[in-house]
Amino acid sequence: MGVKNIGIVVGSLRKGSFNKAIGQYLKDQAPEGVTLEAVEIGNLSLYNQDYDESGEPAEYGPFREKIKAFDGIIFITPEYNRSVPGVLKNAIDVASRPYGHSAWDGKPALVISSSISNQSGFGANHHLRQSLAYLNMPTLAQPEVYIANVQNIFDEDGALKNEESGKFLKDVLAAYLDFANKHV
Ligand code: FNR
Repeated sequence: MGVKNIGIVVGSLRKGSFNKAIGQYLKDQAPEGVTLEAVEIGNLSLYNQDYDESGEPAEYGPFREKIKAFDGIIFITPEYNRSVPGVLKNAIDVASRPYGHSAWDGKPALVISSSISNQSGFGANHHLRQSLAYLNMPTLAQPEVYIANVQNIFDEDGALKNEESGKFLKDVLAAYLDFANKHV
């Protein structure tokens, strides 16, 4: 039995997000029998540890259950100020608690970063990997996925315009699914 149901968590809420476009492209490439599903994180209230004792925002429970139901997670993120955007870190924190009940535990992960500059989100990619290591999420090491100048790869409507990059992303998805199948 292999992985069937993979969550896509994107670190940008922007309507025309290039990172969302990468997620949509991967979703469209999913092989038969595997579903990729983008997860909403923009509705999550900022995490406050008091919630673990005093009751939590209504959206936390369904989000944690959704994450728990996935066989693996693909993170696709821009870099904000050389690190992970706050909205993504917040989602990670929300589903990591209450202590001892992390929804992320053991789920095989893929990290993709992109940017509109040459830097390709390296800082965000590796800050994210640091959290995933702590959260006990085995994470694909190779190929590393840093997408530079992403505006040359997807257009404003999210359509692929660079076939070579599309081929790379397809190969990445295949490598990740192979990796994830070894970890479930
Ligand atoms: C950025 N951007 C950016 N790019 C980069 O390569 N390194 C960085 O540290 C930052 N920092 C940063 C901070 C903030 C607050 C914003 C809004 C943007 C630019 C970023 O790569 C660009 O806006 C992308 O288009 C964001 O990804 P989405 O929204 O297209 O997915």
